[in-house]
Amino acid sequence: MTPEQNTPKVDLLPPLSLYIHLPWCVKKCPYCDFNSHQADRFTHNNALPEQDYLKQLLSDLEVDKPYVQGRPIKSIFFGGGTPSLMSADFYYQLMAELQQTLTFCDDIEITMEANPGTFEQEKFRHFRQAGINRLSIGIQSFQPNLLTTLGRIHNRDEAIRAVDKSRQAGFDNINIDLMHGLPDQSIEQAMADLTTAIDLQPEHLSWYQLTIEPNTEFFRRPPTLPADQILWDIQDAGQTLLAQKGYRHYEVSAYAQANKQAQHNLNYWRFGDYLGLGAGAHGKITLADGQLFRTRKTRHPNHYLQTLPESLTIKDAILTDDMPLEFMMNRLRLFESFALTDYELFCQQAIPETLLTQLNRAVEMGLLAKTDWEKQQIMTTEKGKQFLNELLELFV
Ligand SMILES: C[S@@+](CC[C@H](N)C(=O)[O-])C[C@H]1O[C@@H](n2cnc3c(N)ncnc32)[C@H](O)[C@@H]1O
Ligand code: SF4
Repeated sequence: MTPEQNTPKVDLLPPLSLYIHLPWCVKKCPYCDFNSHQADRFTHNNALPEQDYLKQLLSDLEVDKPYVQGRPIKSIFFGGGTPSLMSADFYYQLMAELQQTLTFCDDIEITMEANPGTFEQEKFRHFRQAGINRLSIGIQSFQPNLLTTLGRIHNRDEAIRAVDKSRQAGFDNINIDLMHGLPDQSIEQAMADLTTAIDLQPEHLSWYQLTIEPNTEFFRRPPTLPADQILWDIQDAGQTLLAQKGYRHYEVSAYAQANKQAQHNLNYWRFGDYLGLGAGAHGKITLADGQLFRTRKTRHPNHYLQTLPESLTIKDAILTDDMPLEFMMNRLRLFESFALTDYELFCQQAIPETLLTQLNRAVEMGLLAKTDWEKQQIMTTEKGKQFLNELLELFV
């Protein structure tokens, strides 16, 4: 298809982002269920197969390119694993190829996940020069004992220095990943972590409550977690502190300074489209004929490298009947007002009567509010945020 044939459809399709997965880490953390693999266990002579992976990513993109359908790319997210393990050269080459193949929006957000144990300032200056304009630094905690329990490869000072070095390397849009509800953590310890993070003035804070995921070391050997009441108190005190310091709570675990929400994540939560490239990457695509489907790539890095590009993608249709729940599960975790007409663009179908009934029920229960009757705008209420699972169950 030529771009001319594609252009008229652009406004009728959801915005498009790009996710690229880099699957290697220095060491596997005991709580982590992401598709991440200890580099020296899966590579020869400790050298990452950067050139082979780059070549395969580009072939992967070539196969997925028809899904772009003329749309410019809104955001790119290099996620992991530990993307900052890869060399600057890898990103110079990859970004140049992406720019040749795709059209970038003028205000494109390009994020890289980075681990404080992989920080050399010169390398980060190059990442910035290659076009990456946002860093998401995985710190998790600043407390020495907890960093050890979490199996992290960095200490408190390295974590603090990583933020400082990022600023010096030219990054003016930084997220810090922090976890709470950690083994034996007290409310004082959780607040001390949050205060240290806020003092570093990141534009964005992702503050996750630790969950024990299957297939992790913590699942096999569960640590002692704080009691439920302490978890509630941490959540409460943390939200108050973040609000006082100017961080707006805009998604379950996401807090941002004014106009600094993560554009890439916003697109996920608004039920936008994204291409997913790399080992185990997930995507979501809408076609102009109204079909919606999810894509996932072969998971293991070695298998990903050895598979023919045209056989890398597994496609799963999103069924019409599942659409209302899928849409709501994403939209309602985002604490912003949205127009019901968005459903038609993002799901490519008229709003079903059953969905309208369910929405009205949620309004009656005080879990949703109509923010603008005429434009049919709705939003999750404070009560809805507190009882998000109950709210979502109304759409099952
Ligand atoms: C894919 S990880 C990438 C971060 C980067 N590799 C690092 O750890 O430095 C994204 C984030 O998810 C969060 N996370 C991972 N496992 C989690 C779990 N079991 N419970 C809560 N948050 C988790 C962590 O905060 C982590 O930084
Ligand atoms: S939390 Fe980050 S560094 Fe740790 S194993 Fe997962 S992806 Fe790798």
